[in-house]
Amino acid sequence: MDETRGRITRDGIRIHEDADFAGMAAAGRVAAEILDLIGPLVSPGVTTGALDDFITQEVARRGVISATIGYKGYRHASCISVNHVVCHGIPGPKTLKDGDILNIDVTVIVDGWFGDTSRMYVAGDLPRKSGRLIQVTHDALMKGIEAVRPGNTFGDIGHAIQTYVEAQRMSVVRDFCGHGLGRVFHAPPNVLHYGRPGTAAVLEEGMFFTIEPMVNLGRPETKVLADDWTAVTRDKSLSAQFEHSVGVTATGCEVFTLSPAGLFHPTQGRAD
Ligand code: MF3
Ligand code: CO
Ligand code: CO
Repeated sequence: MDETRGRITRDGIRIHEDADFAGMAAAGRVAAEILDLIGPLVSPGVTTGALDDFITQEVARRGVISATIGYKGYRHASCISVNHVVCHGIPGPKTLKDGDILNIDVTVIVDGWFGDTSRMYVAGDLPRKSGRLIQVTHDALMKGIEAVRPGNTFGDIGHAIQTYVEAQRMSVVRDFCGHGLGRVFHAPPNVLHYGRPGTAAVLEEGMFFTIEPMVNLGRPETKVLADDWTAVTRDKSLSAQFEHSVGVTATGCEVFTLSPAGLFHPTQGRAD
């Protein structure tokens, strides 16, 4: 037995055991499969509430648990954030229209493990600027994931994301961050999507966390609406987000929430 595993670091981050990776992979796969299935339903005329109803059904059909229903009073199986909504959009009667872009974020609990992932979708035809925002946000997440290896720091992840996004003249949201997870939904550390190289906690094998950058076409500032959930860009500019749950391995990381059908990016699996 390696007594360095199953411990908590001085920064409060749990170091999971080898066997725990399988639990996370199973949970991540279920969340990703549900996001694969929702794609064909996203089109002009559909409501975000109908998309959430489908997700609720899929969660039930698989005999797993929604992590968001009942979480701090939240009542839905997904967050659906359309256009200038940055995150935590509440599904409801809003009808999608041609050219809308939206993030759908699903977290499930499978055998006690939390799988948390989100992607962008498009209703109808993708406007050119929206496509650029989605591409940059997707690639920013991948730059962050590439920085995940033992010995690197959380600041290295944030720096990789921030420098990439700002070089494209877009901005990184500061008001929301990724998070540790595992047998809990939100745990230390806060995974910032901006930062300086070599700062913050050092990554160790066995850490599980999300990386979930939110990128705005305009300024980074956000505000939360009166419903206490919906976060929007202050300048009403478009916002995008992608999220994976990852675990640090000896040489890099395992991504627990890869799309089984290869549909993580919204232009994958589309005719156009
Ligand atoms: N899934 C979100 C995250 O990435 C959290 C949603 S909490 C909710 O951390 F209550 F808004 F659903
Ligand atoms: Co998350
Ligand atoms: Co999420």
